[in-house]
Amino acid sequence: MVIRDESIFIVDDEQALRKLLSYWLGGNGFQCHEAESGEKALAALEEKPADLVILDIRLPGKSGIQLIPEIVEAHPDTAIVMATAVSDTQTAVQCMKLGAYDFLTKPFDLKLVSRTVEKTLQERKAHVKEKEYRKQLEQMAKEQFWGQHDSMVSSLKSLAYALEAKDKYTSGHSERVSLTAVSIAEKLWLPSETIEKIRLAGIVHDIGKIGISETVLNKPGVLTPDEFQLIKRHCEIGEHILLPALKDEIILKSVKYHHENFDGSGYPDRLKADEIPLGARIIAVADSFDAMVSERPYRHAMSIETACQELIKYRAQRFDSEIVNAFLDSIPPCGKGESVFSDQARALRRSPVFNAGVVTR
Ligand SMILES: [Fe+2]
Repeated sequence: MVIRDESIFIVDDEQALRKLLSYWLGGNGFQCHEAESGEKALAALEEKPADLVILDIRLPGKSGIQLIPEIVEAHPDTAIVMATAVSDTQTAVQCMKLGAYDFLTKPFDLKLVSRTVEKTLQERKAHVKEKEYRKQLEQMAKEQFWGQHDSMVSSLKSLAYALEAKDKYTSGHSERVSLTAVSIAEKLWLPSETIEKIRLAGIVHDIGKIGISETVLNKPGVLTPDEFQLIKRHCEIGEHILLPALKDEIILKSVKYHHENFDGSGYPDRLKADEIPLGARIIAVADSFDAMVSERPYRHAMSIETACQELIKYRAQRFDSEIVNAFLDSIPPCGKGESVFSDQARALRRSPVFNAGVVTR
């Protein structure tokens, strides 16, 4: 007899049937374990996962059907084969829709049991391999993305910082927007990969301003309609600049759409609500907050409290309410611990005067 690596767990309330399957499959070299109820099976699988479970549909306590989602959830690599009476084959089909691989009908035809077990274990092996392969590919793509783009990302960051360094009013803006956007993304429990992309999008969000005249960008006072049209172009210019270097949708769309408004009144495409990519909705809140609490040639800075009130006031109009809430949650209580706002808090509380509302450029 060839000793097999695979283990089989037999769950049936009829002891005679359990023993029969254990004896037969054990004789085929498999390591067999048994339980007479779903609850005992779950506890035993927790201790020692199996490659395959033969699961009776009718069990005392939790039924076989109720157990499928729990086993699939806790042990995604364990294959399930249902055991059922001939009259229950419809239910067995339903079980396969829930995640079972196959079913066996009672009374058992032992040769068919062997064939079904072999076939299921092969399918399971292929499934596990495919999952591992997909995971490896995703990992490779991730490493390639950050690896290949490392030097390009550094250059883009340098470009963003160099642009800001020319202007005392916007100096440090990108870095602060990036930090604030990351705080919001963390409050929303976004995946770490997405948070990293939002971090970069925050730094480069205004890179398109490289294509806009400084006279217009820093003009004190109100912009003419033509000048405003010109400024609006920085979102699309930004996307064009980044496209050859970063073929990443999250970053590109965050940059292109960071001036869209939740009610559809923004630019460049007047997107509404969920049409606006999540990264762009996050950058919009972080960008507006930083712009409001910063001095500009055309207006004074707001206090942090007033800026927060403005964000609350324009919730659902300009901003996604959920993101404003996440932003407000991310601000630590005043005077406690380090925060990305602490420098601003110290510097800006002395500037109570503002006159530009919540409109940012
Ligand atoms: Fe902008």
